Amino acid sequence: MLIKPDAIQRGLAGEIISRIEKRGLKIVATRMLQMDAALAQRHYAIHKDRIFFHELVSFITSSPVIAIVFQGKNAIEIIRQTMGDTDPAKAKPGTIRGDFGLDIGHNVIHGSDSVESALKEIDLFFTPKEIFDYQRDIDKWITGEDF
Ligand code: RTP
Ligand code: MG
Repeated sequence: MLIKPDAIQRGLAGEIISRIEKRGLKIVATRMLQMDAALAQRHYAIHKDRIFFHELVSFITSSPVIAIVFQGKNAIEIIRQTMGDTDPAKAKPGTIRGDFGLDIGHNVIHGSDSVESALKEIDLFFTPKEIFDYQRDIDKWITGEDF
């Protein structure tokens, strides 16, 4: 996931990380960076023909972001559900976008939409050495299994 520039500017990074962390997912990598246009274009390549593409690249490169890799059971679905609808106006209260957003272009968080895109995105932001493989004793209380 990415904590987008608007969320960092607004001081929401900790709250966003906390909500996902509290669901039980495990942080295995973090990095703060300011994305350049080349990285943004690769990250959002799937949207390259959309009318909002230029605006999206300009927004995501406008200020630093925090990239985080979360690991855990059903991590993609859990994060997407916790983020809420892409458009904060449609996102339910209780979701991150439903609680902290008003505008689709300023929706505070990005989350990979499939395991396949997560693997590609992780590769864009992290080297294998930056991803931690570690156990937490609490995992058996969250899923009944070591994850
Ligand atoms: P994300 O990729 O950021 O996690 O968001 P998403 O899957 O919920 O939404 P997606 O369809 O992948 O769109 C990527 C981002 O583009 C911006 N967007 N703007 N102006 C518009 O109509 C429009 N539509 C999408 C949003 O910021 C969205 O998160
Ligand atoms: Mg998306």
